[in-house]
Amino acid sequence: DNLAAPNAYARASETADYVRSKLPEALQKPKVAIVCGSGLGGLVDTIDAEHKVELAYSTIPNFPRSTVQGHAGNFVFGTIGPQKTPVALLVGRAHFYEGHTMDLVTFATRVCKLLEVDTMIVTNAAGGLNENYEVGDIVCLNDHLNLAGLVGVHPLRGPNIDEFGVRFPPLSDAYDLDLRRRTHQAWKKLGLDQQKRKLHEGVYAFVGGPSYETRAECRMLRILGADVVGMSTVPEIIVARHAGVRVLAFSLVTNKAVLDAGSRGNDQAIHAMSKSELEEHLNKGKANHQEVLDAGREAAKDMQALVKQILSDLY
Ligand code: ADE
Repeated sequence: DNLAAPNAYARASETADYVRSKLPEALQKPKVAIVCGSGLGGLVDTIDAEHKVELAYSTIPNFPRSTVQGHAGNFVFGTIGPQKTPVALLVGRAHFYEGHTMDLVTFATRVCKLLEVDTMIVTNAAGGLNENYEVGDIVCLNDHLNLAGLVGVHPLRGPNIDEFGVRFPPLSDAYDLDLRRRTHQAWKKLGLDQQKRKLHEGVYAFVGGPSYETRAECRMLRILGADVVGMSTVPEIIVARHAGVRVLAFSLVTNKAVLDAGSRGNDQAIHAMSKSELEEHLNKGKANHQEVLDAGREAAKDMQALVKQILSDLY
């Protein structure tokens, strides 16, 4: 069932109390929560090593159990930057495609709200749909298409939890403009605009997964206005905005989703295809896995530096 459980507030409160009980006073009220997407767990290294506290998700009451082996997940607390800003990092997340309810997918977001964060930075790895995007580019999200939500699979479905927010929250300006402005300023300040990798502003399409999109689905998403596509982030953003938490979100483009129409409606062309042309067609647009990993590693470092700079400028 996709209904938010009626006792979500009580469960999140219990979990927040447990987490607080494990933290020294200086870390009990993180200002910012940072959700680390696939390959972006290195953000943990930007935290000051002293006083770092790591809680395995498996030890935290009510937290969703990860179904991905070896990616159990950690809730990490520490300080970041010269002002020693207290932060909470979620390394590993619960995805809807794993079979979790929307309630569990967004549970950690609510715990962060009860820990009194004012800002959440959400990161993910995504497929690029915009023709101008390259593997390794970073996209600062300025909007989303909640495909699942538009047809009823929505984290706020069910009785409204008034303690968190209103029944009908607006999402027209969900992605905080001041934080986006600061992002572009930080990018420039770090000199990252002098390199090949680009920082874009774009729209994220949330799909349920776990299969990747067909070519036709990629073209559809592009026509609808999406720049990147992925299987996370949007439920967390909605629940954060419902609870009045300010959000900033980044996608790392790890592959170019294939927009090429392929064999559609051209029988003669297929008939005349040589074996090598056929292979070339099949490989076109398919990212080389090693290239993707390398691009991801380098880009992740830039994203870490960017997040750190934004936080240093912010607090
Ligand atoms: N995550 C990374 N690449 C993706 C893609 N092409 N589609 C959906 N989610 C993704």
